Amino acid sequence: MSEYLFELPPKNLKEAARKFRQLHHPIWTENKAKLIGRYLYYFVLITKHGSYIDGFAGPQEPDNEEMWAAKLVLESRPRWLRHFYLCELSAEKVKMLESLRDSQPRKTKKEPRRTITICAGDFNATVGKMLAEHPVPDKEAAFCLLDQRAFECDWATVATLAAHKKAGNKIELFYFLPNAWLDRSVSGLKDKQGALAKWWGDTSWNQLLARRGIDRAKYACERFRSEFNYKHVYPFPIYERREGGKMMYFMIHASDHEEATPLMYRAYNKALGTRETAEQLEFLTSTPAP
Ligand SMILES: C[S@@+](CC[C@H](N)C(=O)[O-])C[C@H]1O[C@@H](n2cnc3c(N)ncnc32)[C@H](O)[C@@H]1O
Repeated sequence: MSEYLFELPPKNLKEAARKFRQLHHPIWTENKAKLIGRYLYYFVLITKHGSYIDGFAGPQEPDNEEMWAAKLVLESRPRWLRHFYLCELSAEKVKMLESLRDSQPRKTKKEPRRTITICAGDFNATVGKMLAEHPVPDKEAAFCLLDQRAFECDWATVATLAAHKKAGNKIELFYFLPNAWLDRSVSGLKDKQGALAKWWGDTSWNQLLARRGIDRAKYACERFRSEFNYKHVYPFPIYERREGGKMMYFMIHASDHEEATPLMYRAYNKALGTRETAEQLEFLTSTPAP
């Protein structure tokens, strides 16, 4: 796995060396939701609050809800994330999201009040209205999962999310860039120019497609840095199966928070591993809960 060790922001190098050495276990597609769940678990121990937006929130495998990111994040403890926005195009999956919302246990006295908003429809069309009706305060930590299968997430949607907060850290993004089947999916497009211009936002998609593997992922990361000014942007490979195989996606993690990249490495290494002890988590829990 060491060939997929990416350069870390210099400020984080020492921390990174202490917390992780390399990506120990490959995350494969069945476990990508666990990666997001584990990362948010760590992050919430630091922020004690936050908003979670999921633009493509329906389950990929409706018969295996344990692989469903929205469910893992909603059910994660402690329940300190306060606002959820779960968006989905398929009417059937919107129903699943509603049942998930309705099955959540009542809050305890110690837990903050929670809101769970379900937005039915095309996220590219609803994102603007959703953020206008529920603006994320500048000081609030916010995360958005963009788990597209191929070209479902328009670049304009990514831009809307990145530009939403007027100060403080931008909405953190988990953007799924398809890799292994990207070229095949492109050849299957009827209106290739139109579809790719919408997906990638400009004509530099040909530069993206001209690259392979990690170079392609790095090229995409650079765009999040240069166009939206995210401070820390790194690609995390999601493999075909447990033993490795093809790199199916890169999860591009874009954040302004200094701890974000080390925590994502930690989550990547721990998503499938053993539970950590209170001592190991001490660095995250040094301030009191709300
Ligand atoms: C890859 S799956 C998401 C998997 C999910 N994150 C999980 O953990 O299982 C993509 C989802 O996006 C939905 N979808 C596709 N196009 C969409 C759009 N334009 N707006 C909102 N949802 C969309 C699909 O119906 C599907 O449920």
